[in-house]
Amino acid sequence: MSYHNPVLLFESVDGLDIVQDGVYVDVTFGGGGHSKEILKRLGADGKLFAFDQDEDALKNSINDGRFTLIHENFRYVKRFLRFYGIKKVNGILADLGVSSHQFDEASRGFSTRFDADLDMRMFKGSKKNAAHIINKYSQERLADILFLYGDLRNSRALAKQIVESRNEESIQTSFQLKEALQKFLPKSKEHKILAQIFQAIRIEVNEELDALKEFLLQTEELLDVGGKLSVISYHSLEDRLVKRYVRSGLFEGEPEKDFYGNITVPFKKGKLITPSKIEIKENNRARSAKLRIATRIDG
Ligand SMILES: C[S@@+](CC[C@H](N)C(=O)[O-])C[C@H]1O[C@@H](n2cnc3c(N)ncnc32)[C@H](O)[C@@H]1O
Repeated sequence: MSYHNPVLLFESVDGLDIVQDGVYVDVTFGGGGHSKEILKRLGADGKLFAFDQDEDALKNSINDGRFTLIHENFRYVKRFLRFYGIKKVNGILADLGVSSHQFDEASRGFSTRFDADLDMRMFKGSKKNAAHIINKYSQERLADILFLYGDLRNSRALAKQIVESRNEESIQTSFQLKEALQKFLPKSKEHKILAQIFQAIRIEVNEELDALKEFLLQTEELLDVGGKLSVISYHSLEDRLVKRYVRSGLFEGEPEKDFYGNITVPFKKGKLITPSKIEIKENNRARSAKLRIATRIDG
């Protein structure tokens, strides 16, 4: 089985407008599909730095003198690039979320399909896994997570049920969790609801939205004027942050106007790109993808 089938491959790399001797960053290396396409378009003096926090991705590293793979969270992108003497780059690509490998590898606990330990950590060294959240978080915090990250309207009832079940016996596996919540999972909607629950827990385990915000805030300083930011997201919480950030440099509210009523923004936003019907037919994972490309401007 392939590690990962890249989504919006040409569109996202086209968006980087690669210059031959430029410096590029792929902050979500995974199976390396996007990185390989960037390297194809780079000249002999170009450079590509890639990040992935999952040690499984390291085995996909590319043997190429222009390429460096960094086993780190992209929330520290500036710090690690600086370690390699890089202060400015020409383009940054992020293909957010989970790889097919992470979903398909039962033991990682990301998938609702398998009975596995509740893990869901992308960085295997992290202390916080899904079992910790399910068994240790307060009922209120669980409800908030299910509501905010899973868009589950009945989050309070779900959280109450989780707490009642774990008080009888701790919940350690995905099927135990499923069983505990059985009465909220009518056959016709079981898959959808479970996917929402798993998404919510996964976002909390990996602090995905905080990491994304911290990363985006660093792109402003890292990108040279004219440099490109190309981001693929897979759910509305991610896309909203990317959309707001490239529009105004902020995640909330509106940018301040100067004396003349002008606003200074760090990016010129491009249009939203979504996968073609053919791509979605060939790769179901592409169905929710949204690509946003922005250009760093002198602001
Ligand atoms: C959708 S996959 C990327 C697939 C890749 N573009 C390809 O073509 O194979 C996302 C990858 O990003 C990694 N990842 C997600 N969040 C991360 C973060 N905060 N820091 C570093 N890597 C992260 C995941 O471990 C996963 O391997």
